[in-house]
Amino acid sequence: MSDLRTGAVARLFDDLSPTYDQSGVAFFSPVAERLVALVRPVPGEQVADFGCGRGAVALRIASAVGPDGSVTAMDLAPGMVAATAEEAERRGLTWLRAVTGDAGGPDLPAASLDLLTASLVLFFLPDPLAAVRCWLDLLGPGGRIGITTFGEQDEVWRAVDDLFDPYLPPGMLDPRTAGRRGPFSSESALAALVSEAGGQVTASVEEPLPVRFADVEQWERFSLSTGQRQMWQLVPEPERAGLRAAAGRLLESARPVPGGAIEVRQVIRCTLVERL
Ligand SMILES: C[S@@+](CC[C@H](N)C(=O)[O-])C[C@H]1O[C@@H](n2cnc3c(N)ncnc32)[C@H](O)[C@@H]1O
Repeated sequence: MSDLRTGAVARLFDDLSPTYDQSGVAFFSPVAERLVALVRPVPGEQVADFGCGRGAVALRIASAVGPDGSVTAMDLAPGMVAATAEEAERRGLTWLRAVTGDAGGPDLPAASLDLLTASLVLFFLPDPLAAVRCWLDLLGPGGRIGITTFGEQDEVWRAVDDLFDPYLPPGMLDPRTAGRRGPFSSESALAALVSEAGGQVTASVEEPLPVRFADVEQWERFSLSTGQRQMWQLVPEPERAGLRAAAGRLLESARPVPGGAIEVRQVIRCTLVERL
């Protein structure tokens, strides 16, 4: 998505927090479910979820670890933290603590965690290698880290996202969220980063996630509720209608059943990391 510095990322996601994951499109929940299935939290575990957003992962893990465990849900954006805290309270998950903080330099004691998760977050950090190194130090004996990142998109979704390219500054053209190069471009590139940080990948699963939009308007609401909103902001107002129309034509070609939902696919990569 971007190469923004930490302050700009915090502002972007704070602005997004009221609508993030509220468009009715099943995206962040199925990603979180895959991650939780991979890391398998058990009752009593001490867990931190970095870049918690509105709690897609942290709330699920809090239910799994139960009152004998604890979950620190942390995000840079205060609006995200407030939304997670509110939902935890509504569900009676009093052992979940939602805090504002930077996953690049978390204020947690060394060797204090059984499990650390970060779903769709690592690529936002200015120095992912330093972050993973520091996350490994937070693990107690037998501790593990679970992260999710993006793999390939199908042709239609990629073509839709490529419509923004003419408006993006050079640094955003090979987005670090996936990219054709760099640590998030493949399972092996990510494994190399983990190994340089002093860890090892003990499981890696790449699986396409089918994502359905009832119509082009729902895609647009979804797009504007994610980090892609900053790309819309780079498109001059008079050109937005043209981009919307072009995206609409592409998306309309992706209705497997005429009159049914639009369906596109994004590969989600789930990675389990342990200390070497
Ligand atoms: C794509 S969202 C994912 C949110 C959540 N994990 C989920 O799966 O729904 C990325 C989140 O990471 C947060 N974030 C980005 N950089 C961060 C940092 N340095 N420290 C903590 N949170 C960060 C953003 O504020 C945002 O809430």
